[in-house]
Amino acid sequence: MRKQIAAANWKMNLTLQEAEILMDALLATPHDLNENQEAVFGVPFPYLVNIKSKLAGRKNVFVAAQNCSDKKSGAYTGEVSAEMLKSIAVDYVILGHSERREYFNESHAMLAGKINICLENGLQPIFCCGEPLSIRETESQNSYVETQLKESLFHLSAEQLTGFVIAYEPIWAIGTGKTASNEQAQEMHAHIRNVISNQYGAAVADSISILYGGSVKANNAAAIFAQPDVDGGLVGGASLVAEDFAAIINSLK
Ligand code: 13P
Repeated sequence: MRKQIAAANWKMNLTLQEAEILMDALLATPHDLNENQEAVFGVPFPYLVNIKSKLAGRKNVFVAAQNCSDKKSGAYTGEVSAEMLKSIAVDYVILGHSERREYFNESHAMLAGKINICLENGLQPIFCCGEPLSIRETESQNSYVETQLKESLFHLSAEQLTGFVIAYEPIWAIGTGKTASNEQAQEMHAHIRNVISNQYGAAVADSISILYGGSVKANNAAAIFAQPDVDGGLVGGASLVAEDFAAIINSLK
């Protein structure tokens, strides 16, 4: 049975002091993760060690970096390597977020390289895909997302892709308060699973957790997560409010 995941993406928000207050409040709020469910906190690099230590002894709660370098090591001032993340026991790495694709020119090929280096270091990528509004308006979102998957993931073996985590984040729904409808989310998630199934078979496709991201809130999470191919969410704004993210964790099916 594939994992259900509520993942927070704090993006470039919060001071360390604010982050600690948020985390303490969240950990004080009861949430009932079963063995099949996880909460993941995608926090800025400087807070990973600190937040990870706060989670010590908690079951099914993990940290994610929001990026890593596609280079192994060396003279790349300001970059953070997968090996560094491994050395501080990071669990997940968010890769290919649309903000990184847009503002930092991350290409399909670069993302394939980042995925490889994460897997070599035992880090699980959360691979983000999703179309801009202009593509949705011409109803070509299915082929757009298919290309993103093929170009960055399809060099992997079936074994490497088994249990993988993908986040579908339509760009027009990110930070806009305009979430995809439950039907739009389900339709794209089923498409993603189908694309993977056609290449790797149903068993691999069924093992992959596909998270929805884009204006997930405390009051809409349960309905989105209830869709059969939606296995949780990747949450921006609402993950910065303890009660809201706690409610989103509790909305996992
Ligand atoms: P919002 O939840 O703020 O729309 O952000 C979604 C997102 O980009 C998560 O990675």
